[in-house]
Amino acid sequence: LPRVLSGIQPTADSFHLGNYLGALKQWVALQDDHDAFYCVVDLHAITVEQDPATLRRRTLVSAAQLLALGVDPDRSALFVQSHVPEHAQLGWVLQCMTGFGEASRMTQFKDKSQRQGTTGTSVGLFTYPVLQAADILLYQAQRVPVGEDQRQHLELTRDLATRFNNRFGPTFTLPEAYIPPGAAKVLDLQMPDKKMSKSLPPAGCVNLLDDPKVTAKKIRSAVTDTGREVVADPAGKPGVTNLLTIHAALSGQTVPQLEEHFAGRGYGDLKKELAEVVTDALAPVQARTAELLADTAELERVLAAGAARAREVAAPTLAAVYDRVGFLPAG
Ligand code: TYM
Repeated sequence: LPRVLSGIQPTADSFHLGNYLGALKQWVALQDDHDAFYCVVDLHAITVEQDPATLRRRTLVSAAQLLALGVDPDRSALFVQSHVPEHAQLGWVLQCMTGFGEASRMTQFKDKSQRQGTTGTSVGLFTYPVLQAADILLYQAQRVPVGEDQRQHLELTRDLATRFNNRFGPTFTLPEAYIPPGAAKVLDLQMPDKKMSKSLPPAGCVNLLDDPKVTAKKIRSAVTDTGREVVADPAGKPGVTNLLTIHAALSGQTVPQLEEHFAGRGYGDLKKELAEVVTDALAPVQARTAELLADTAELERVLAAGAARAREVAAPTLAAVYDRVGFLPAG
């Protein structure tokens, strides 16, 4: 089976609709015909300051949500990044093969470091994409399901793999980004010129674990556009287009079908129906997440088994890398 790997940061109390539709939905679907490795990337999380107790809690809540969304531990290895030391180890080797200028071109670093300021920006935030490359290359992953915002990091990963292979001989599989056609970039409900993100004010971000009333209110208050017709027009009507995209991704209907369905009706009807579609989809996820968190023994068992499975694949890759770069065997 082809390999797939992806990761998500445990940096919020809940994932949001952008995470789900841009990436996690594909994580679940790809399990059917891929050998899948999915990780909660706590090493990535500490590139910005984290409170230790909060990080630990969010790591568990993240794993619970992934299982609740349908990641199946019988078919996929679900693990915590810091449980598999090979990530940090390969990360270092790849850092030594990354140009300073090359890393400086990462647009996500430019955005995030601007938010953190010069004193708050860690060197880890700068080398973050190289650790991400290590995550992927350790497993020889062919596909990496992510949202549009990760495209540049995947390009860097391919460049590093190619460079290593050319210099030391064939070692790494070249991965491809697996980006969904519809919802690769879910937009913020209040600022539909920006991607939905936990770093913007909460009103524009629909969290998977939000109370249904809160979700309905966020959708009702979504910024729409001038005009009255419910039609998709990404340039002219980004807000309405975003609501249609979310609806389509969750209901399985196409955007043209939805345009027909809402013909002659207004934005209010769209928002009302969308709130129902979203809260109906999230209700079972919320119930299952709560169940898994009520007694974390099962969750911990799943994560331990996932890490053991991950190390079976990661350790031989790292051993080959250490050998090829010329490290003396530890004996
Ligand atoms: P993170 O934790 O920020 O986001 C997790 C996933 O959600 C996607 N995403 C979105 N998709 C569509 N619309 C949005 N508004 C939106 N917001 C977030 C992201 O593209 C991502 O797929 N660097 C990664 C984590 C990572 C990783 C990896 C991913 C670490 N190692 C290895 C893949 C492979 C990140 O910060 O994602």
